[in-house]
Amino acid sequence: MVVPGEVKIGHVDDIQELRRVQPSVVPKRYVREDDEQPVRSRVCTSLEVPIVDMEKLDGDHHDELVRLTVACQDWGFFQVVNHGIEEGLLDAMEAVTREFFMLPLEEKEKYPMAPGTIQGYGHAFVFSEEQKLDWCNMLALGVEPAFTRNPKLWPTKPEKFSETLELYSSKVRILCQKLLTHIARTLGISSNTFNKMFGEAVQAVRMNYYPPCARSDSVLGLSSHSDGSAITVLQQDMACVGLQVLKNDMWVPVKPVPDALVINIGDTLEVMTNGKYKSVEHRAVTNEDKERLSMVTFYAPSYDVVLGPLSELVTEDEGSKYKTYNHGEYSRHYVTNRLQGKKNLEFAKIGPTTYH
Ligand code: OGA
Ligand code: NI
Repeated sequence: MVVPGEVKIGHVDDIQELRRVQPSVVPKRYVREDDEQPVRSRVCTSLEVPIVDMEKLDGDHHDELVRLTVACQDWGFFQVVNHGIEEGLLDAMEAVTREFFMLPLEEKEKYPMAPGTIQGYGHAFVFSEEQKLDWCNMLALGVEPAFTRNPKLWPTKPEKFSETLELYSSKVRILCQKLLTHIARTLGISSNTFNKMFGEAVQAVRMNYYPPCARSDSVLGLSSHSDGSAITVLQQDMACVGLQVLKNDMWVPVKPVPDALVINIGDTLEVMTNGKYKSVEHRAVTNEDKERLSMVTFYAPSYDVVLGPLSELVTEDEGSKYKTYNHGEYSRHYVTNRLQGKKNLEFAKIGPTTYH
């Protein structure tokens, strides 16, 4: 018989298994300290992240560019509609992801996330026995460039998994490039600035499965963090709300909009814009009786790119707020430290840090 506590990946429980055996048990390692508990945090339901229409942006509608500017400046988060990725493909991506997570544990464990790495099935960012854990199972994979792929970790079940992820990723890549063109326009810099600088951009995907949780009031599906990417594209299922974005010290839930994709600014763009556009902390909460899925693409410069604030965006008054560094080094720093708000970005900061 399997008892909770013995069902482990490395030294971490597999939450789906834990729930299957004892649905109401939530081990202490998942219960957050008071200040991190969803039930104790301020949630703002009257605000909503902006929605940007890609077709209008492509069609040069001035109002839409203004909307994008505001979204980048004031939110760091927005949803895009008319983004050019067919509904059928989004549905297919969600379906293969769901099918994967529904496979028996033995099947999923064929793709284990090795300790210290972030690819495969398992828990990333676990560094100590004391650390609080996220109520989530994840599968993370490098997609582009080809050398970041570990083909042994690409599931062979469901059968259409790889083919679907491949096609999906190629479309998301085009979307990211387009978005970066428009974001450059909002900054008044040459529209191909980012795409040119990024070289052969790195693209990775993380699929998150958040099982229901009997203590959803006091656990987190995913700890608060900002993404290390330049931009992130998140697809979420329609079943329930889980993603929350920090704004004015309050958590704003990101309500699923049919066929929309959630975009957010990552640390790399914060550095390159010299803080004009900031990466924003976000987290995922769980639901008591509903599971939730998200498929997340991280888009970032090639590892060999040396980057820092773009000279066009550094004013004499403010000077550079961030160092110039090798992006590969930042990526390594990000994946070897636990998720803790925007702490990882201290790596790139000049002068006294403001984050704790
Ligand atoms: C992430 C992330 C949120 C979610 O994977 O970086 O922020 O809702 N996910 O799954
Ligand atoms: Ni994130």
